[in-house]
Amino acid sequence: MDIPLSNERHLSNKVAVVTGGTRGIGRAIAERLLQAGASVAFCGRSPESVARAAEEMAQNPGGTVFGEAVDVSKPEQVERFFKGLDRRFSHLHILVNNAGVGIFRKVKEMTVEDWQKTLDVNLSGAFYCCRETLQRLNNAEGGYIINISSLAGKNPFSGGAAYNASKFGLNGFSEALMLDHRYDNVRVSYIMPGSVNTEFGSRSAPSDWMIAPQDVAQVVMNLLEMPERTLVSRVEMRPLKPRK
Ligand SMILES: NC(=O)c1ccc[n+]([C@@H]2O[C@H](COP(=O)([O-])OP(=O)(O)OC[C@H]3O[C@@H](n4cnc5c(N)ncnc54)[C@H](OP(=O)(O)O)[C@@H]3O)[C@@H](O)[C@H]2O)c1
Repeated sequence: MDIPLSNERHLSNKVAVVTGGTRGIGRAIAERLLQAGASVAFCGRSPESVARAAEEMAQNPGGTVFGEAVDVSKPEQVERFFKGLDRRFSHLHILVNNAGVGIFRKVKEMTVEDWQKTLDVNLSGAFYCCRETLQRLNNAEGGYIINISSLAGKNPFSGGAAYNASKFGLNGFSEALMLDHRYDNVRVSYIMPGSVNTEFGSRSAPSDWMIAPQDVAQVVMNLLEMPERTLVSRVEMRPLKPRK
């Protein structure tokens, strides 16, 4: 997938799917892709949030936006979402697996449901979306899959067992996926941000020392603009001055 550098609409012939695009990091990524002229299909679980986000994003100049209420942890919903995209687009080019949940409890207090939900959304959801996308990439044109992992994918912390397991898993999955499909012209990268200023995991107070969601979106654009011969397969990002 040859992406010409930095004219305003350099993604105007590309179709991108962003999971969890109603707010936070996914929303910032969807907005940057739209600004660059891409057609963007996004999802989130709440139909109201999806409708609101689609309406707001459609106000800005750029590519066309389409949103649908989809729970990525449910393979039948993911399949239905992608079948719907077949009616709109002949091929897909970019997938950003961003949808994720954070349930933070010590193992003794963690329910089976907490564990399953975290793994189902953060890890299996990415697999379901990759599978559907890979069937819809044109290998001559190529494609790009970007998985939003976390520094929690390399740094375990107390209360993070399920989240750590899901993000360690996502990292391993991303690397094997890259090895599976690099010769099919599919590039795969995963981004591991530290604390990002969103409502993730019921965080409430905005904190300016954190990474801004737009900064993660900037990294996505930088990856897409890399020359095709080179793959930046893993990116770590952290706040410059974390709270002490
Ligand atoms: N914020 C951080 O500090 C941080 C740091 C490192 C990595 N990350 C990762 O970045 C990603 C995005 O986090 P964020 O901070 O932007 O979180 P956020 O503000 O809570 O947004 C999460 C998005 O994902 C959607 N979502 C959640 N579960 C879903 C599901 N089962 N199916 C489809 N969509 C779903 C949400 O919409 P609905 O609620 O309507 O479904 C929302 O659009 C996550 O993978 C997270 O692990 C975050």
